[in-house]
Amino acid sequence: MTTTPPPPSSSPTAPASVSLGTPNSAAARPVMLLGSGELGKEVLIALQRLGVETIAVDRYEGAPGQQVAHHARTIAMNDPDELRALILRDRPALVVPEIEAIATLTLEALEAEGIVRVIPTARAARLTMDREGIRRLAAETLGLPTSPYVFADSLVELQSAIDGGIGYPCIVKPVMSSSGKGQSKIDGSEDVAAAWQYAMDGGRVSGGRIIVEGFVDFDYEITQLTVRAIGADGAIHTHFCEPIGHVQVHGDYIESWQPQPMSAEALLRARAIAKAVTDDLGGQGLFGVELFVKGDHVWFSEVSPRPHDTGLVTLVTQAQSEFELHARAILGLPVDTSLRVPGASAVIYGGVEADAVVFEGVADALRVPQTDIRLFGKPQSFVRRRMGVALAHDTDVETARARAKEAASKVTVRAV
Ligand SMILES: Nc1ncnc2c1ncn2[C@@H]1O[C@H](COP(=O)(O)OP(=O)(O)OP(=O)(O)O)[C@@H](O)[C@H]1O
Ligand SMILES: [Mg+2]
Repeated sequence: MTTTPPPPSSSPTAPASVSLGTPNSAAARPVMLLGSGELGKEVLIALQRLGVETIAVDRYEGAPGQQVAHHARTIAMNDPDELRALILRDRPALVVPEIEAIATLTLEALEAEGIVRVIPTARAARLTMDREGIRRLAAETLGLPTSPYVFADSLVELQSAIDGGIGYPCIVKPVMSSSGKGQSKIDGSEDVAAAWQYAMDGGRVSGGRIIVEGFVDFDYEITQLTVRAIGADGAIHTHFCEPIGHVQVHGDYIESWQPQPMSAEALLRARAIAKAVTDDLGGQGLFGVELFVKGDHVWFSEVSPRPHDTGLVTLVTQAQSEFELHARAILGLPVDTSLRVPGASAVIYGGVEADAVVFEGVADALRVPQTDIRLFGKPQSFVRRRMGVALAHDTDVETARARAKEAASKVTVRAV
C-alpha cells in the first residue's frame, strides 16, 4: 500500500511564500485572522495594503478587525467543531491566530492534514496558549533562565510549593489566562487563599491549574520583538527590533516606549533567549518575547507568537510597524526592522461601562506636538477595556513618553 506524502507547504518548517492575488477572485489567497481586536485590525490593514483578501474572525460581531476586512465571521473560536467547519468552508491560505483562547488542537490537526498553514505554526499556538506549555519548553527543554516556578492544582499544593522553596513574595497565575486575569501577588501567608480563589475565578478554564512564580525583582521589563522571515537565499532569517520598555498595571500594559536603553551584555542575552525560543517555535512571523532585566541578567517570562500589545508603539517608531512586519513575514516578503525615531505609547481605557461611547478631547490630544492616536472602534466600553492608544515620537524617549501620556489624558470616553 502506498501513502501520499503531505504537500511540502504543510510542513511548518518549510519556508513558504504566499502569492498575492486579486481579492474576491479565483486568484485570491485569503488570510484568516483568528481574533480581530486592535492588534488584528492593524495586521488586517497591513494585509489590505498589500491587496490580500482578508477574513476577520471574532467571538462577537463588529470587532475592530471585522470593520476593515473583506469578510467578517463570528464564531466561538475555542469550539473545535465551529473552528474546523469555518476553516473548511473558507479554505484560507493562511490562518493567523491573534488571541490565545482558540481550539489549537483543531489547528494542529488541520495543519497535519495539510489543509492549512497556521502562523507561525499550530504547535506554537498550542504551546503559548498555556503557561505550562511555554514555561516547560523555555526552562526545562531549552534551559533558559526564568523565575522559579511550580504548577499547582489545589490550595494545598500551592501552599506547599511556596513553603517548599518558591517563598514570598510570589505571583500566582492561572495557566490558562492572559491580560493579567486571575493573576495576583502574594506577600505573605495571609494572602495565599485569596490568591488561589482569585485565580480560580479568573482562569479561562474553570478549576484549572495555576503556576506560582518566585517574584523577580527586575530593574525593568522589555518586549523583544523578533521576526522570522524568508531572506533572499530562501531560508528563514531572524531579525530583531529595538527593545521596547513598558509598564504593567494589574497584568495589563499602560505605557510602552522604544528603544529601552540596555547594557550591551543584557541586550545580547535578551536576543540570545529570543532566538532560542523563536527557533524552537519555528515558522514565519513576528513574536513578542517578554523578558525581565536586572543589570546584565535577563529572565525569559513568556512569548506571543504574534504582534504584542506593547508593540503598538512601533506604529510611530519603526520604518515598518510590528503589524507590517508580521504581514510581510507570513507572506514570505522581506522585512526591515529598523527604528525610525524614538517614541512612546499610552493606553486610553474605557473608564465607563457603556454600549456606545463618544470620544471627547481628541483634537486637544492631537494638538500635543508629534502625536498620533488610534481609536479601535470597539462597540462596547468597559472600565478596564483598552479603547485606544496615544502615540508620540521625539528625539528622546522621555519626552515622547510625556507627550504620549499627555495626549492620552486629554481623551475622555463618555457613555451616550
Ligand atoms: N515572576 C514575576 N516576577 C515579577 N513580576 C512578574 C512576574 N510575573 C509577571 N510579572 C509582572 O506581571 C506582568 C504580567 O505577567 P504575564 O505577562 O505573565 O501575564 P499575562 O496575563 O500574560 O499578561 P499579558 O497578557 O498582558 O502579557 C508582567 O509583565 C510583569 O510586570
Ligand atoms: Mg505578558
